[in-house]
Amino acid sequence: MSSALIETRNLSRRFKSGEEYIEVLRGVNLRVDAGDTISIQGESGCGKSTLLNLMAGLDHADGGEIFWDSKEISKSSNEWLATRRASLIGMVFQSYYLIPEIRALENVMLGGRISGKTENLVERAEALLQRVGLESRMSSLPATLSGGERQRVAIARAMISGPKVLLADEPTGNLDEATGDSIMDMLQELCDETGIGLVLVTHSANYAARMGRSWVLRQGILESDSD
Ligand SMILES: Nc1ncnc2c1ncn2[C@@H]1O[C@H](COP(=O)(O)OP(=O)(O)O)[C@@H](O)[C@H]1O
Ligand SMILES: [Mg+2]
Repeated sequence: MSSALIETRNLSRRFKSGEEYIEVLRGVNLRVDAGDTISIQGESGCGKSTLLNLMAGLDHADGGEIFWDSKEISKSSNEWLATRRASLIGMVFQSYYLIPEIRALENVMLGGRISGKTENLVERAEALLQRVGLESRMSSLPATLSGGERQRVAIARAMISGPKVLLADEPTGNLDEATGDSIMDMLQELCDETGIGLVLVTHSANYAARMGRSWVLRQGILESDSD
């Protein structure tokens, strides 16, 4: 079997709460191969964002291992992680996290600047914004965009460095149902077109069912959704 793009083995993470520790992840095994579409559901506070942050190398586990393309990352420097992350992982969040002071196009370009992928950056950012249906809003500031439009900008930003996997943490969580549906359709189309994998954290059973594999995070362990 070829190596996974991202793999976690027996991953654990706990947080201190007062005098005690809360065991949030208690042995998570998850494998993401090229082109996989995977959903993760679970009650609020169960550790879904914690898991995505660990997979993205933005947090350190207390136990277990995380592999990017077969390399175990726990001892890697932040600099190495940032460089590798840029070409492997794009992230999309519930709250978009756009920079409010700069225009949509510049927000998308920033994704490429951070990763050092600056060749034809303006053209690539414009093409992505066009692809997500925002050709007329490229010079708009985030505050003047609707929630769905902001999420489209955030998706374009996540894709500018050509990642192999998108980690999407409740990307429709702040949107009304119709807008959420259109964002989900767009994410799936983009992943189909490009072969990018998608790990989707969602509270929607409908969206989860659209992914190739569905997991539920329960008491710190991933269970198959059909169990
Ligand atoms: N940096 C942190 N410090 C302390 N507790 C945290 C931290 N991050 C998350 N937690 C706790 O870990 C649990 C899981 O959080 P989170 O991963 O955000 O859940 P979910 O995304 O499933 O809603 C929650 O109880 C949360 O309060
Ligand atoms: Mg969360």
